[in-house]
Amino acid sequence: MWTAPAVGEPPRNNRERGFYMQVAVIGAGVMGPGIAQVWMMGGHQAVLVDVDEGALKKGGEVIRESLSMMREMGIVAKEPDQYMTLYTGTTSLSQAVEGASLVIEAVPEMPDIKQSIYRELDRLCPEGTVIVSNTSSLPLPDMFPEFRPDRFFVCHFFNPPAVVPLVELVKTERTAPEAVEWLKDELARCGKKPIVVNGFVMGFLVNRLQMAMMREALHLVQRGVVRPDDVDTAALAAIGFKTAWQGMFDTMDYIGLDTVAMAGSIIFPDLSNETKLPEIITEKVRRGHLGVKSGRGFFNYADGRAAEVMQRRQTLLLEQWKLFKKHMP
Ligand SMILES: NC(=O)c1ccc[n+]([C@@H]2O[C@H](COP(=O)([O-])OP(=O)(O)OC[C@H]3O[C@@H](n4cnc5c(N)ncnc54)[C@H](O)[C@@H]3O)[C@@H](O)[C@H]2O)c1
Repeated sequence: MWTAPAVGEPPRNNRERGFYMQVAVIGAGVMGPGIAQVWMMGGHQAVLVDVDEGALKKGGEVIRESLSMMREMGIVAKEPDQYMTLYTGTTSLSQAVEGASLVIEAVPEMPDIKQSIYRELDRLCPEGTVIVSNTSSLPLPDMFPEFRPDRFFVCHFFNPPAVVPLVELVKTERTAPEAVEWLKDELARCGKKPIVVNGFVMGFLVNRLQMAMMREALHLVQRGVVRPDDVDTAALAAIGFKTAWQGMFDTMDYIGLDTVAMAGSIIFPDLSNETKLPEIITEKVRRGHLGVKSGRGFFNYADGRAAEVMQRRQTLLLEQWKLFKKHMP
């Protein structure tokens, strides 16, 4: 019989129930199914919940397809059917969270929708349950300070969540450290690479780093110094090529800190510190050229190219993941 952990006690796992623990994932959109898959691959029971039955059905199919592809590429040890025994889809929030040690909210980035779910969760979940949000931008524990102050924080996965190893855990001053440590350990056991961000900063860590590079890229293209395809060649053939295996601080140590300091003192003053978006992107958004999803962005994805690039991306990410797992277990 599952019993709720006492207040202040980290959630318990439930091997005697035939699986390690139950994880409820709320929202079967772009992120939810992949997040559920992470836990299934780690041997946990995942319950995916959505108000939309169509999304739920598609979510289950997405998980199965992803597992099939991983099986074909030799990434996972078992057949999709074996993992799918650890999966349940439901439209009932109360059914999903009954017995769950961990609840992950992944509904649209709209505070009102999220808040209504937290109200329900407050009623349904025992006090020891760890409840996290996959938000990419909202300081939710500060926005809803009455809601489970010590057990509610941010757990930010990256798309596609079943593949990208990093997970950012963002805690506040009030978050119970043992809840964060517990989740960090559980994610690591599922093969993830969690990091902790101490306090809310806009964009957390990864999106800040990425936006800093994107701002510079947009700035240089806007100035006419380089073309978008050349920026991408540089990202793939130099920055990404090395950064896959060499972190930023690692790289600075390799270069030599005196050289980094010298180059930084020359280049920093010339970098973009523009706070407004350049015209080359706002103009595209105005015209509806939104990228892969609309068939045109900085590049052209018409005539079936969108499906082709998505498939290629998925395969290459899985190949990269195989290498990552081999060299950074
Ligand atoms: N899309 C990304 O690449 C990405 C990456 C990292 C984080 N995030 C964050 O993850 C969260 C989810 O994003 P997404 O892109 O998966 O959203 P999405 O819009 O694709 O999916 C959200 C799902 O939530 C469902 N939903 C809405 N109200 C609900 C309710 N009351 N109960 C249950 N389900 C409900 C919707 O039917 C939908 O299927 C957001 O906070 C977003 O900022 C997204």
